[in-house]
Amino acid sequence: MARPRGHVAAAPRLVIVRGVVRPPGDKSITHRALLLAGLVRPPSVLRGALTALDARSTARVLRQLGADVTPLRPGQLVQVRGRTWRAPGGPLHCGNSGTTARLLLGVLAGHRFEARVTGDASLRRRPMRRVTEPLTRMGAHLVEEGGDGLPIRIRGGRLVPLDWTLPVASAQLKSALLLAGLVAGVGVTVREPAKSRDHTERLLRALGAPLHEDGLSVTLEPTPDWLRRLPGLDVAIPADPSSAAFLVAAALLAEGGDLRVSDVGVNPTRIGFLRVLARMGAAVRIEGARVESGEPVADLLVSPAHLRGVEVTGEEVPSLVDEVPILAVLASRASGESVFRSVGELRVKESDRLALLAANLRAVGAGAEVQGDDLHVRGTDAPPAGSVDTAGDHRLAMAFGVLGTLPGARVRLSERASAAVSYPGFFDDLARIGGRTR
Ligand code: S3P
Repeated sequence: MARPRGHVAAAPRLVIVRGVVRPPGDKSITHRALLLAGLVRPPSVLRGALTALDARSTARVLRQLGADVTPLRPGQLVQVRGRTWRAPGGPLHCGNSGTTARLLLGVLAGHRFEARVTGDASLRRRPMRRVTEPLTRMGAHLVEEGGDGLPIRIRGGRLVPLDWTLPVASAQLKSALLLAGLVAGVGVTVREPAKSRDHTERLLRALGAPLHEDGLSVTLEPTPDWLRRLPGLDVAIPADPSSAAFLVAAALLAEGGDLRVSDVGVNPTRIGFLRVLARMGAAVRIEGARVESGEPVADLLVSPAHLRGVEVTGEEVPSLVDEVPILAVLASRASGESVFRSVGELRVKESDRLALLAANLRAVGAGAEVQGDDLHVRGTDAPPAGSVDTAGDHRLAMAFGVLGTLPGARVRLSERASAAVSYPGFFDDLARIGGRTR
């Protein structure tokens, strides 16, 4: 018989957790800070930036466009010196990073040269019409070579103001349009059906941009020379709450001990998972709250908890959209049934996370089903055992890697190298917090 392929999740059994972990820098803030720094001439400094593959994709395309960006290495400052962007010599390859692709299209819409934007097979499957349509309305020329997706050829130019209602709550779309307005020096109003993460707004406000927020709408009224007058940026980037969530989950599932996850961004638009965990019976303590570069930051203190099933509403999904995989894994260990309402957007993330979450949870012995756009999960006490198809999706690899830490677990991951997209040292950190293993 052929041996099953894949990586046996050699995750430690986390009987007791202990220690302090600082997860890598926030992915969303790193992309935004890099792009803005790449647009201004005076030198900029990014402290605590993410140096994982997705961040390197943004740095790489910026260099192709003429900016100087020092190599992204863990523990080192990133220095950026922007230039007047020039036409790139070849395609701008965004790797696996949807945020790079969509925000970049927004910035390129304000530049008068042609560029071709592409990405890996996963990124080429993701919908782009939602960003090409409003940018076309502003006056940029975009040609989709791949149907509703990459590769896209774009030639920006003189843009006109835009007032746009997004079909879905999406910080990538909102940010792409705000950046297009900023570069072109024209007003943009973006309205969302629900509040998505607001890092772009916070960063722009910290830089003094003329930005107004009113409920679910945001308006930017830049002067034509606003960007040119900007001094260099000095941005402190907190640890990514979406990466922290995997460590928090591992500590909750352990049998004893406690864990401190330090310097985590606790922006309210990002920590819906902590509110859901509280309803599941897991009180994660927030300590040492402070504000850095316009973003709230704190340590998270976690100890094991007995979890109960929960209902996650559609309104709260934008605040935990990247945490649904790990929350669903936790729901598979909770008493009773959980339901995640209106999570259809998960179909167009790095993989079809909705279908894969349900199939993989069933494969390891939990109950899971997709009904319309809702995900239902039934918890079990039995040790998880079975093969998981991560489809190369970092968040699926890490979520099911956490499940593999349970005593008695036999969880086989199809791969775990994809963690390098957002959290290269994840499986090492997981091993490190296992104070005692069996
Ligand atoms: C992100 C926004 C979210 C999120 C992604 C990062 C961002 O995507 O899933 O990981 O940095 O703006 P959507 O804008 O598609 O919801």
